[in-house]
Amino acid sequence: MTQPGRTEKTDKTFENLRASGEEDALSLRPQALMDFIGQDSLKDKLSIFIRASQSREEPLDHTLFYGPPGLGKTTLAGIIAREMNGNLRITSGPALERAGDLAAILSNIQPNDVLFIDEIHRMSANIEEILYPAMEDFCLSIIVGKGPLARSIRLQLPRFTLVGATTRLGLLTSPLRARFGIVEQLHLYAPSELTEIVVRGARVLETDITQEAAREIGARARGTPRVALRLLRRVRDVATVRSMDVIEEPLAKAALDMLGVDTLGLDDQDRKFLSALTELFDGGPVGLSTLAAALNEDSQTIEDIYEPYLIQKGLLERTPRGRKATRNAYGYMGITQPGIQRQLPLPDDDMMEM
Ligand SMILES: Nc1ncnc2c1ncn2[C@@H]1O[C@H](COP(=O)(O)OP(=O)(O)O)[C@@H](O)[C@H]1O
Ligand SMILES: [Mg+2]
Repeated sequence: MTQPGRTEKTDKTFENLRASGEEDALSLRPQALMDFIGQDSLKDKLSIFIRASQSREEPLDHTLFYGPPGLGKTTLAGIIAREMNGNLRITSGPALERAGDLAAILSNIQPNDVLFIDEIHRMSANIEEILYPAMEDFCLSIIVGKGPLARSIRLQLPRFTLVGATTRLGLLTSPLRARFGIVEQLHLYAPSELTEIVVRGARVLETDITQEAAREIGARARGTPRVALRLLRRVRDVATVRSMDVIEEPLAKAALDMLGVDTLGLDDQDRKFLSALTELFDGGPVGLSTLAAALNEDSQTIEDIYEPYLIQKGLLERTPRGRKATRNAYGYMGITQPGIQRQLPLPDDDMMEM
């Protein structure tokens, strides 16, 4: 029998990221808290906690960030590492398959390092067991040898900060969650913040863009910096091909339309979702797994990527009985909501008021 293929380990440092051609994304990442746009209350708190631990010459408490993808969790981990003068070591829940994987990373850790575990809710139970003493007492217990010769050795680790990121706070076990001193949620960004992110991104990409064009991209970016920067790149492609030196509003609009992103920021996938919900399922309520099957998507993608923005835009409602289309969703799709008759004023309306 052949060995089942093992997933590649992602113990990425920034150096590895650079080597793997993600340099663009890397330079687009704000390096200091000051340059991180939006999430103001989170930033205020974090900057106090960072300053306090700097002045006590202690590492920052273990920190957990949760929220939809593309909102800046990885970026914040990098910022913390830089502020604390440590290295950033990146891994992820699914990459840590065996106890040895985590032990190898922990035994190489330096004082003040930030260990970033992405998708921490997908870490297996045996890995969690190793992480607990490392988080609490900065010690690593490992078993060496096999059978009757096996013995457990205890290594003292330097003090470090664990930064966890998850799209699913609810999937974290409570003992793991309890070991984070700082737990912060990231929210979808306001269009004005996304505009700023686009302007900053354009500067890093050395592309000229007008404020109006940046606003157009920001408004259609589903509240998500990663989407804003992706749209910026695609709009820049169109500008390049048309030999335009400056991205102006008409070009941005035309390019975004061409990409299938409408003025609300919804793309083909969102429209497929809304059309399934309103037409196939009569507006719901319909269960997530049923919707997922109809759309040929996995439930997690739907919950993490489609739904937060549709909810923010008032197009979708999550109810205990399932997902429901709102009246706005019908308006958006241009179809009549079933069961809603056009309300004609009764002739004696006024009389009844009296
Ligand atoms: N507040 C922000 N200001 C500027 N750029 C941001 C901000 N948040 C995220 N980004 C950019 O968006 C992209 C996605 O961010 P990332 O940290 O990878 O998100 P997450 O880890 O939450 O999925 C990165 O290119 C990052 O530079
Ligand atoms: Mg990330």
